[in-house]
Order: sequence, then C-alpha cells, then structure tokens
Amino acid sequence: MDEFSFRDGTLWCEQTPLREVAEKFGTPTYVYSASTLVDHYVRFAKAFESIDPLICFSAKALSNVHLLRLLGDQGAGIDTVSGGELHRALLAGVDPERIVLAGVGKSADELREAVRRDIRCINVESEEEVALLARIAREEGGRPRLAIRVNPDIAPDLRTPARTTTAVRGVKFGVDIERAAALFSRAAGDGFLRPEGIHVHIGSPIFDPQVYAMAIERVLALVADIEAAGNPVTTINLGGGFPAEYTEGSAPGWDEFADAICPRLEGFVHRGGQIIFEPGRTIAANAGVLLAAVRYRKQAGERELVVIDAGMTHIARAAMYDSYHFMWPVSPVNGAIPSSRDQESVDDLVAYDVVGPICESSDYLAKGRALPAMVAGDLVAIFTAGAYGMTMTSNYNSQLRPAEVLIQGADVKLVRRRETYDDLVALEFPDDTPPSLPS
Ligand code: LLP
Repeated sequence: MDEFSFRDGTLWCEQTPLREVAEKFGTPTYVYSASTLVDHYVRFAKAFESIDPLICFSAKALSNVHLLRLLGDQGAGIDTVSGGELHRALLAGVDPERIVLAGVGKSADELREAVRRDIRCINVESEEEVALLARIAREEGGRPRLAIRVNPDIAPDLRTPARTTTAVRGVKFGVDIERAAALFSRAAGDGFLRPEGIHVHIGSPIFDPQVYAMAIERVLALVADIEAAGNPVTTINLGGGFPAEYTEGSAPGWDEFADAICPRLEGFVHRGGQIIFEPGRTIAANAGVLLAAVRYRKQAGERELVVIDAGMTHIARAAMYDSYHFMWPVSPVNGAIPSSRDQESVDDLVAYDVVGPICESSDYLAKGRALPAMVAGDLVAIFTAGAYGMTMTSNYNSQLRPAEVLIQGADVKLVRRRETYDDLVALEFPDDTPPSLPS
C-alpha cells in the first residue's frame, strides 16, 4: 500500500524514523514518501496500459514543485486548474505537451498563458469561455487545442460527498451534454481554435467503477454526434476521481476500474484516439502523512481531549467534509501498534477527541477516536494526508503553514520550509521589507 510502517515500536517512512524528521524540522510537517508516490503512478499507468493514456497528475491534490518534478520525471503530465498551478507545472520542468488546464472561471490572463505555452489541451467550460479563448488566440496568433468539459448528469453513489460531486444537472462545472455538440461545431468553425476532445470529471472520490462506464457511454454517444457533423474527436479526458484507501480495503483497486473502463475505450483508441486521465488523490493520498505533536490533554465534560499543533488550517478535510483520517502516535506507549489502518485492534485505548488550536468549533480532527494514551510532546501521524492536505492549508488565525519533507530511503530533504512571521506579514508591506519587532 505504502512505505509508512511501524518497526521497532516507532513509525518509519521508508528508511527514516519519523521521530528524527520531527526532531530536525519540528511539527506540524507534511512528510512524503518518494517511492510510494512513484510506485502509485507507475502501477496506475500499468493498470491502464492497454489504452496507453496520458496521465496528468492533478496538481490540486499535491502541488509542491519538487513532487510534481518527481512525477514528471516518470513521464506524468500535470492537470492544472489555475495560472498558479500551470506555473508550478512548468517550473517542475513538465513538457507543455503534457499539461492540461481546466477550471470553471479561468481568467483571460490564465487562458493567454496557456495559449502562449501551447499546452496540450485547455478544457473549456462555457460558451463564453470559448468566445474569450478565440479572441485571445487571435491576439496571440496561436491555435489552442481545446476540449469541451461536459456535464453528463451522472450522480455517483452516496459515498461521494455532495460537496465534491461535479457532474449532476445544475452544478457549475462543464457544459450540459446536450449543448456540447453545437459548441464543438462552433469552435471548429473558428480558424483560431482546435477543438479536439471531450472532458468529463464526475466527482471525487468515485467508488463504483460502473459510474465511469456510464460516463463513457454518454461521452461516446456525444463523440458520435460530433463526428456525424464532420468534426473529428481525437481526445477523451475522463478526469480523476479514483479513490484512495483512507481505511484498508475501503476502495476497489485500479484493476477493477481498468476492467470497467478500458474495454469501452479500445475502439476509440484503436482508431488513433488519445485517452487522458487526471488522477490526484489515488496517487498522492497515501504517499504522505502529517506529522503533528500533542500540546495538551484536557477534559471537557465527560470527554477526553488531546490538543495537537495541527488544526483545520493545516489539514482541512475533517473540518470541511467530516473526513476520516487514520491517526496514531508515532512511538506509542507499550509498543501499541495497530494491525491495520482501519481497526484500532489494540487493548487499553482511550477514546479521544483530537482537536487543533484554531478558534472554531469545527476544528476537530477526530471525535471519540480509540487511541493509545498520549501525553504532551508525543508525536502523532495523521495518515492519508498526501492529497488535499498541504494544498488546502491556510493562514487563518495567522497560523504558519507546515513544512514539507520528502523522503527517499534514508535521504531526507526539506522541500518547503515552515513559514515564518515575516512571511505572514510580508505582502502587507508591498513597498518595503516588513519591519521587525524590537527584541
Ligand atoms: N480533474 C478535475 C477536473 C477535478 O475537478 C479534480 C478534482 C480532479 C481531476 C482530481 O480528482 P481526484 O483524482 O483527486 O479525485 N478537496 C476535496 C477534493 C476536491 C476534488 C476537486 N476536483 C477533498 O479533499 O476530498
């Protein structure tokens, strides 16, 4: 599954004890396993090799330039959703031929940059965006390749949170599928645009492979309509949404998704069509943990609380979506090691509410979670934090964003330093260096 495991009573990432990472860099710190990230990418690609897709890792899940470079070096492309992510992908040395740009509200400047760089594909989401892109293409003398992002009106099952469902009627994403053929034709009639594909992203995470099958059926019907009007479609981008195991065994494997997806696309691929995927979570989530430390224990009514130094500003998913993240002390008392990440199969556990330092009642990482007894200073690892962890941090309460550390075997590299108070206020003094406090 990944390279985080307990040995000799303590948690390791590859050949590095996390205790040492905390000693050296402090907490809270995101710790990534390079081998796990690469292994997940390689195995995902292998599962789908029969349709030879372009796999554009979704930078919104994990956008550190060093990690994007690591994936880019393996041949991955990058799925971006803003000028900022495009900048990161280019800085990471990823070939523009392997970069796609999506987003429901791209600015003119973001579109212009994508046109200038001649990236692989711009996924457009409205008629007005196509018109703006055409104008920019004319001004720039470019001929951008584009895909129409469609809303196929597919509801995934209830395991996908409503807040991350993106393809049911009336949501803001994409163009209603019945309007897509006309928009494609209109774009094809503009000498400055090169419409080449259809893009669809149903939601995140999607647990049922059949949901992809349904989306493919609808997209292939649309492709047939577009081609009947005389315009070839050469790309189908199926987006991301593949799940990660937040608890062991909770998600189907990549082969199960490939079994539902590949046979339906082989015809399209055999006649020269290119498939694109945009996986984020499934590659990155279990390649990272957030390393935190206990600050206090306290009682509140009948409840036992541990206050840790990571809250919703350092990892937002629990407060935002009620998401489950397995967590465990890095060096548990009495060597209390869990046998897996879904059952707290150890005696003498305490039901803790695990909370952060932020002034919000929703700042809980877990409620009534059975954990080994902890005291102030103990380190805790919050698992499956590699996706939508660091990318969703904020400076609310003037908290400093965590450091990020990349581990490869016994090699430990700081890939983002912890923010400082100077960083916090730097932009508030645009013409000056920020003043320092008298000591
Ligand atoms: N492509 C598009 C167009 C997307 O909107 C997304 C995610 C992806 C690809 C990547 O999806 P993935 O493979 O990672 O599931 N913050 C939420 C997740 C929001 C996902 C938004 N779009 C969370 O923490 O669960």
